Amino acid sequence: MMSDEAEFSAAVERNIEALQQRADLAQMGVDFIRETAELGYSYNFRWMGRPVIQFPQDLIALQEIIWAVRPAVIVETGVARGGSLVFHASMLELLGGDGIVVGVDVDIRSHNRQAIEEHPMARRIRLIEGSSVDAEVFSKVRAEVGERSPVIVILDSNHTHAHVLDELRLYADLVSPGSFLVVLDTIVEHLPKSMYLDRPWGPGDNPMTAVRQFLREDPRFEQDRSIDGKLLITVAPEGWLRRKGT
Ligand SMILES: C[S@@+](CC[C@H](N)C(=O)[O-])C[C@H]1O[C@@H](n2cnc3c(N)ncnc32)[C@H](O)[C@@H]1O
Repeated sequence: MMSDEAEFSAAVERNIEALQQRADLAQMGVDFIRETAELGYSYNFRWMGRPVIQFPQDLIALQEIIWAVRPAVIVETGVARGGSLVFHASMLELLGGDGIVVGVDVDIRSHNRQAIEEHPMARRIRLIEGSSVDAEVFSKVRAEVGERSPVIVILDSNHTHAHVLDELRLYADLVSPGSFLVVLDTIVEHLPKSMYLDRPWGPGDNPMTAVRQFLREDPRFEQDRSIDGKLLITVAPEGWLRRKGT
């Protein structure tokens, strides 16, 4: 006989499978993101006082994978005002242990750096300034990771196909078997070009096109579609990649 916990998990899996059949609901998620983008919705939230440029739904999913993987290191490209680094660090704090967060950004403004360095979670955060695909920058990231394991990697910097593909090729090796490589803003593929006229990315040239090419190149990774399948509102459709193995 199944335990209550196992029955509950099985019921949730069935819920997700049913949701995945509902293309109309996934489209409602895309519509919500498109309609609210103009109003700057993704800028509305803070984590422990720092602005975090994420949808709340995606933060819940990140929390779930952090709990499941119990990483020793979370590497994120794209720091902005530091809210996501603080989010990851706070999760590591709750897990106990001495896990760290490595944040890479081409432009860490001094007031943001100061706020991150003075934050109660700062002891877990390492900041590296420079382009995420620069060889010297990547070697600093690798040095911070050292022998620590498991490692989660999250890509949230420049969203062009070429940049994200370069990041995927570089950072994939850091991801531990069974752990995640999360590629944010794949949603750009489903949004109109008119939303990104001032950006080098848009439909046809974005993180989702990079993920699709990367998956053709690197058989170590697979998509976990149950994550975007259950979120429905996510900036990372097809962006939750798991490295096979344990
Ligand atoms: C969407 S924001 C990151 C948001 C942050 N992860 C959060 O959740 O609050 C994107 C960031 O990527 C940075 N960026 C742009 N090009 C980059 C590059 N080549 N290397 C590293 N960071 C880059 C920008 O400076 C910007 O701060």
